[in-house]
Amino acid sequence: MTQKEPITVAITGAAGNIAYSLIFRICSGELFGTDQPFNLNLIDIEPGMSILEGLVMELQDSNFHLINKTICTTDPFEGFRDADYAILLGAYPRNKNQTRKDLLGKNAPIFKIQGKALSLVAKRTVKVVVVGNPVNTNALMTTKFAENIPKENIIALTRLDMNRSISQLSRKLNKNVSNIKNVFTWGNHSASQFVDLSNGYLLEGSKKTPLTQLVEEEWIYGKFQKTNQMRGKEVLLKRGRSSAGSAANAIIDCLKSWIYGTENYVSMGVISDNNPYNVPENLIFSFPCTCKNGTWQIAKDLKPNDFCKKMIKKNVEELVEERRIAFELLKD
Ligand code: LMR
Repeated sequence: MTQKEPITVAITGAAGNIAYSLIFRICSGELFGTDQPFNLNLIDIEPGMSILEGLVMELQDSNFHLINKTICTTDPFEGFRDADYAILLGAYPRNKNQTRKDLLGKNAPIFKIQGKALSLVAKRTVKVVVVGNPVNTNALMTTKFAENIPKENIIALTRLDMNRSISQLSRKLNKNVSNIKNVFTWGNHSASQFVDLSNGYLLEGSKKTPLTQLVEEEWIYGKFQKTNQMRGKEVLLKRGRSSAGSAANAIIDCLKSWIYGTENYVSMGVISDNNPYNVPENLIFSFPCTCKNGTWQIAKDLKPNDFCKKMIKKNVEELVEERRIAFELLKD
């Protein structure tokens, strides 16, 4: 059997918590396949370098046969070189008194440099998943500065919001998460996001029951939304640090959908150009998407109800404001 050529996977914030959960799963072959070797380019700031050295020692001690080569660097122009995938975890972390938007000032410049580096040294086909908050606007900044990379190749992680909503429904209905289909979140990865279950159903055998018949309206538009909107903050309050394992899991879910395709709608924060839902151009917005042959498409034929339309508008206003602040900060 001929061996596959190694691909290159670059990860920023590689000394952090999410990375620690993510990297071992990638190295086990779970994401790219157990026959796909890769180079692992680990990027972080100077204080993270000793942690990265320790991480590399642990990777060595795990005897992962898929790792071809590992580098640790503070320089995104080195770290993103020839990258096929870039997972941008690195960002200034939020504390319990901050909203994600409060991080714009610290994080917008980071994503400007990373966008430029991706543009200059990564493969033009690189798939980029932005995770650091405020993730939608950080991803938008990345698209702006990564001039050589198609905007469609840069997405924001909103899969964790979708996963959280499915988990809530599973607990509410006392059904397995795998039986719950076509539930997704729209908008910003912030407290304005909202879950849309108007197309969702419970699948049992071949029977599909619309979720709207199984849960009360009051819960759908009240506690369900609130819990999802505040879940990141709740975890942060309990753990003293942001979600890490569930974020890593959502990254794997998101990339698997993007690479291998989907059967149902999934939430992805993608460039809003040419969407059919009146979201203005040039925002990164969480839409229900389907994926095929390594590309995503925004769902075309949904009919948002009045609640969805109102919430889409609210999220647009918030993201337009974030974009205004970020562009202001990054003016040369
Ligand atoms: C989350 O949703 O858990 C992350 O975006 C981290 C955070 O600060 O909420």
